[in-house]
Amino acid sequence: MAYQQILTTVKDHTFYITINRPQKLNALNKEVLTELADAIAFANTSEDIQAVLITGAGEKAFVAGADISEFQHYNLEEGKQLAKNGHDQVFNAIENSTKPVVAAINGFALGGGLELAMACHIRIASENARLGLPEVTLGLIPGYGGTQRLTQLVGKGHAFEMIFTAEMITADRAEKIGLVNYVVPQENLLEKANEILGKIKSKAPLAISSAIKAVNASFSKEVNGYQVEIEEFGNCFNTQDFKEGVAAFLEKRKANFKGR
Ligand code: COA
Repeated sequence: MAYQQILTTVKDHTFYITINRPQKLNALNKEVLTELADAIAFANTSEDIQAVLITGAGEKAFVAGADISEFQHYNLEEGKQLAKNGHDQVFNAIENSTKPVVAAINGFALGGGLELAMACHIRIASENARLGLPEVTLGLIPGYGGTQRLTQLVGKGHAFEMIFTAEMITADRAEKIGLVNYVVPQENLLEKANEILGKIKSKAPLAISSAIKAVNASFSKEVNGYQVEIEEFGNCFNTQDFKEGVAAFLEKRKANFKGR
């Protein structure tokens, strides 16, 4: 698929996705969502890609939300469908990606933008970032998983306050309440993200995939997280990477994982 709204590139086994509508503060219109869904599916099937980084173009916004102009005339059914498609095709797909996904939040992360960042496994914010779920200002609630993932990340009290007041919080405040992992100067954002990705990419890729499944299972009502952990732990013993990791430790050398 040729992308019009996002930029993608692969470097050192990281797939960089940049949402590229800076004149609209990278708001998520239908095309962006379709392209994001395609890009995540591609990352999951590409053997060359070990990790994904999502950021926004420009210095002002990561993503300033869903594109408000698109749903102005929606009715009940269309509203439901909008949320369901987003959940199924993009936000859940990112959360359940077999490769780790890091959000580099380079400015406003509002509404669907914060929901996108929260679907990622790790969030790093630049000092100028502002984060919020302003949907009630529009007579809506977050519809791309925000009510669930914000609550998981920061707890019910902070989630209610952010959703009820619709106020943006600073990056420092977001770090304090556990919404982002790190805050760095904007010029160091990608460097910090790459530092973390470098550490992750040096580890066994299949073990990382298993960890994603097991951690995500702790928030699922359909599966027992402890059982998923037992299964995934067992599966690791069936990998070449496990044999390589243990051999490398015993031979006092660096492991050379192949993701097999
Ligand atoms: N959907 C559609 N367009 C958006 C958008 C969104 N979520 N967020 C910003 N834009 C557009 C603006 O309409 C404007 O377009 P224009 O130049 O054609 O008029 C452009 O992006 C720049 O935004 P602007 O509002 O002029 O920038 P600002 O610096 O004055 O304010 C924000 C920045 C983020 C505070 C403001 O854009 C905003 O509140 N955006 C909406 C946030 C929101 O409610 N998101 C949740 C949606 S569910």
